[in-house]
Amino acid sequence: MASTLPLARLGIVGGGQLARMMAPACSAHQVQLTILDPEPDSPAGQFAHAQIEGALHDSESLAALCRVSDVVTFDLEDIGADILMTLADQGMTMVPSPEVVKLIQNKQVQKQHYQAHGIATAPFMPLALDATFETVEAFGLPCVQKACVGGYDGRGVHIIRNRTDWDRRLMTESFIEAFVSGGMELAVMVARNAHGEMAAYDPVEMVVDPDLNLLDYLLAPARVPAETVEAAQALAKATVASFNSPGLYGVELFLTAEGDLWVNEVAPRAHNSGHHTIEACVTSQFENQLRACLNLPLGDTALRGAAVMMNLVGEPDYEGPPVIEGLDVLLADADCHLHLYGKSLCRPGRKMGHITWVGSDREAVIARALAQRDRIKIRGAESL
Ligand SMILES: Nc1ncnc2c1ncn2[C@@H]1O[C@H](COP(=O)(O)OP(=O)(O)O)[C@@H](O)[C@H]1O
Ligand SMILES: [Mg+2]
Repeated sequence: MASTLPLARLGIVGGGQLARMMAPACSAHQVQLTILDPEPDSPAGQFAHAQIEGALHDSESLAALCRVSDVVTFDLEDIGADILMTLADQGMTMVPSPEVVKLIQNKQVQKQHYQAHGIATAPFMPLALDATFETVEAFGLPCVQKACVGGYDGRGVHIIRNRTDWDRRLMTESFIEAFVSGGMELAVMVARNAHGEMAAYDPVEMVVDPDLNLLDYLLAPARVPAETVEAAQALAKATVASFNSPGLYGVELFLTAEGDLWVNEVAPRAHNSGHHTIEACVTSQFENQLRACLNLPLGDTALRGAAVMMNLVGEPDYEGPPVIEGLDVLLADADCHLHLYGKSLCRPGRKMGHITWVGSDREAVIARALAQRDRIKIRGAESL
């Protein structure tokens, strides 16, 4: 196989941390990276060959990115999918296809797609804006109300257990779905190239803090039996195959208390639950995203050991230029890896970076991560 260098000119719509973490794979493979982002000097723009400053829903900005790219990919879903579909019709290669992004942008359409393709997902029902409490009671409580569009990181998701929760419902186009209780949340990253070749990573487990009921950390591999690993990978691959488009996909799954696997939602891009793959897997999710974009053979997804990944988010009560505390703690552990995202402003709860701990023994890695994490903080320089 003879390839002319640079291998390709890759354009990414969105210059956040996901695009930023693709830059090392682009650099290693001599791929010229251009970022489109409205924010000057975006996290990814800082490491790209070039950044175009422009809105992600703006036809002129998106066309400008296409003019300097051989392939275009995405680092988020909130983009002008219709404009991108027109640009794809004019001959621009996009991975994944903007049709898939458009389908995924609307969670209800996404769920209907799974239903139509025989992909297991939690039972759901559209919720009319004038629906009454009796409607959700008849559906079954507790249930989860989800905004069709615009939700992320738990925004746009509302649990309804009783009439009080109903009174606080989301006043937007939405649907309700069965509440999954007593199960586990898993995620499987899957890469697919244009030849249809697919590679699935081992399922990752979202470990929830039982007191706070919040995501505590991500654990790889998940604590599930080998049959569940296989079933989760098979379901994730079937889901990705249903989209009929190359790309890298993050498939979020529920493992119910009864042992069933249901697809929750899919991200058509690199995903938070694949960050550990940088150090813990033979090929990172970002390199496989690049390989999928360029239709190259996919890399080995095998785990080298166990990993714990935690997001590093802005501490409450502070805002401003970021200050990191406890860097020395991290640097003293050779199997602890820090990734900062280059965001110039730290706000409470904002994702500023992540940390991955790796090792051969899962329980030992968890213990190390839990022992170190309280000594590492990121916050804004000014108190609020
Ligand atoms: N049907 C459900 N049953 C129980 N928990 C749910 C359900 N749907 C979502 N959740 C919880 O809410 C979180 C966010 O929901 P999700 O649909 O993944 O939205 P987001 O786009 O914010 O990630 C999930 O990771 C899960 O913890
Ligand atoms: Mg989700």
